[in-house]
Amino acid sequence: MNDIQKSELIRRRRSVRTFDETPLREDDSRKIMDFANMLQNPYDVKIEWKLLSAEKNGLSSPVIAGTDAFIAGKMLRVEHAEEAFGYSFEKVVLFAESLGVGTTWIAGTMNRAAFEKAVGLAEDEVMPCVSPLGYAAKKMSLKEIMMRKGIGADKRMDFGELFFDGSFDKPLSPEAAGKLRLPLEMVRLAPSAVNKQPWRVIVEGGKAHFYEKRSKGYLSPDGWDLQKIDLGIALCHFELGAEEAGLKPSFSIEDPGIDSGELVYIASYSVSE
Ligand SMILES: Cc1cc2nc3c(=O)[nH]c(=O)nc-3n(C[C@H](O)[C@H](O)[C@H](O)COP(=O)(O)O)c2cc1C
Repeated sequence: MNDIQKSELIRRRRSVRTFDETPLREDDSRKIMDFANMLQNPYDVKIEWKLLSAEKNGLSSPVIAGTDAFIAGKMLRVEHAEEAFGYSFEKVVLFAESLGVGTTWIAGTMNRAAFEKAVGLAEDEVMPCVSPLGYAAKKMSLKEIMMRKGIGADKRMDFGELFFDGSFDKPLSPEAAGKLRLPLEMVRLAPSAVNKQPWRVIVEGGKAHFYEKRSKGYLSPDGWDLQKIDLGIALCHFELGAEEAGLKPSFSIEDPGIDSGELVYIASYSVSE
């Protein structure tokens, strides 16, 4: 992913909703699609990527202005589809950022039926999110500014509210996190639906266990859990941060059985030097 450090890309990225009308450059779209097509995720779920034109496919999003290009991903509606999608799509988002291409994760604010038709969605498939691709306008529209304010998009929760040391009643400080400080800080900065930041991580015996703190209204009656996409993003950021810190993160799904109240266990990373 170029020479730029992942932590720098993570710190610098923000959702871009106002674009400058410049068409997406051919070499940028090719690089992004090549990158997306070679991606793998810890769940081994296959994702099919599509580059779409809003004009040609009748696509629109009420929050996006100034670009015609969108990327969408679709996959079979299998177990862990949400986390797998979150993990992979965030890699695409950060790769786009490294090229100077702006993105916004969009799960809701779009004419979904038109997008699903454009990607040729089958009965047993799901298209969790799409993103515009383009170059950020110099100034955000008033709508974008108001939207960011409404969601509190520039804020993130504190380290000690999200990360814990051995048990959920013991907050972890950045200093006490030691070698996990950078990977956890990358999790803290991740984007999430309505900026809810539903990830909680407990560190115990060299392992980081990820949990979901569910908010009301994000779990569909059919079991689809939008906030698990956020957890997939968190896993991606943790892994990138760990690699940058010179660690070897190893993924597993092995519930350690820690008393977690209402939190839902998602996955773990063990890290070695
Ligand atoms: C899974 C997911 C779904 C999202 N859906 C939407 C959406 O439908 N519309 C939108 O404008 N933003 C959407 N967002 C963007 C978030 O609002 C944004 O990431 C968050 O407020 C933090 O702001 P930032 O991305 O600028 O750091 C979504 C983000 C995620 C991760």
